[in-house]
Amino acid sequence: MGPLGLSGAGDVLAVRAGGPLRGELRVPGDKSISHRALLLGGLADGVSSISGLSDGADVAATAAAVRALGAAVEPSGDVLVVRGGDLRAPAGPIHVGNSGTSIRLLAGIAAGCPFSTTLGGDASVNRRPMDRVAEPLRLMGAAVDGADGGRRAPLVITGGRLRGINWQPPVASAQVKGAVLLAGLFADGETVVREPVATRAHTEEMLASFGADVRVAAGEVAVRASRPAPFDFAVPGDPSAAAFWLVGAALLPGSDVTLHDVYRGQGRDGCLRVLARMGADLTVTPSGDRQVRLECRWAPLRGVTVAAAEIPDLIDEIPVLAVAAAVADGPTRFEGAGELRHKESDRLRSVLAGLAALGAPAEVDGDTLVVHGGAQLRAGRLDAAGDHRIAMAFCIGALAAAGGETVISGWRSVATSYPGFLEDLAKCRES
Ligand code: S3P
Repeated sequence: MGPLGLSGAGDVLAVRAGGPLRGELRVPGDKSISHRALLLGGLADGVSSISGLSDGADVAATAAAVRALGAAVEPSGDVLVVRGGDLRAPAGPIHVGNSGTSIRLLAGIAAGCPFSTTLGGDASVNRRPMDRVAEPLRLMGAAVDGADGGRRAPLVITGGRLRGINWQPPVASAQVKGAVLLAGLFADGETVVREPVATRAHTEEMLASFGADVRVAAGEVAVRASRPAPFDFAVPGDPSAAAFWLVGAALLPGSDVTLHDVYRGQGRDGCLRVLARMGADLTVTPSGDRQVRLECRWAPLRGVTVAAAEIPDLIDEIPVLAVAAAVADGPTRFEGAGELRHKESDRLRSVLAGLAALGAPAEVDGDTLVVHGGAQLRAGRLDAAGDHRIAMAFCIGALAAAGGETVISGWRSVATSYPGFLEDLAKCRES
């Protein structure tokens, strides 16, 4: 156990309670935006450069995939240089590791390419539903085969001439929207994605700013055959990574944390809204185009109701918000949260197990996660279920848990999105 009460032996983290969290952090580059920057760099005919890319394994998987499809992807000083525009058949199957965003967005591009691409991942990715992308891509004219009758990865996609479709995804998903829009760049006619509940807008925002033919209207996004032009792009900080420090600061008396250059835009600020409703002492200051500085200090929290329509805006933050809800005064309800079952783990199940391990009562009622609140967290043992966000959420919970050390197995999963998490924790516990 180090001076900060942290010890990580391979896949197991032991963490002792303690705060406050104080100081300034720059969280990693946004994961969703990083994936898209690499993919659009692969499609753009020429040299693009990207700075501030996420250093997580998921984004590294996308970089490797773009390379396997024939683009050159090389670091040059502080930036990553992508020379794209001429995609070719990969020499073998593409493995995306744990990354659902990689496989679904790549499926959209593979659908437009006149060769066969095999896309697979780890056991978690190969369990997750792929019919939500396979179905629209088939309607556009691609051949999509896969395990479990074509519903799961590994997927084998043979692309070619596509036709535009007008599609309303059966679930609110930015990955599905992104896959269909990327395929639409290769299609005859217009490809329209209708969204009853808006999801994160990175695909359309980035396509528009890189000069592709995209049209955004109320409730729908449309593209026509086109390519992004080569670009120089700086990836802003990841609000889903910032959420851990915001909740940590809100939970630990005496805390005062500042996070710089965090993305704020459609579909990504639900966590800020929910924390504010819970009574968090949070200041949000614009610091650039769709970027904010976030400051959070300790304050007592109260339970709130999160409506189903809000869930897409905080889908990745619910595990750590559930930890905040555990100590809040009164119950918190996350309604219509069934999509959490289909993430890196079954997050309804893993959140319940983690809360139970720290002594916080909660239950799942249909698709509603109810966290009863008012708990005095106590140290326990839990498993991250291979899910980075579960590991980090309960590490934050452990900081507020009395009575010894909390032991989290499956800690290695943190590398998926935030390899420097423990260094950042050390920074704001020291300062
Ligand atoms: C993402 C969309 C969300 C999110 C994931 C990243 C994206 O998934 O949970 O971490 O980059 O488009 P869904 O599209 O499945 O909601």
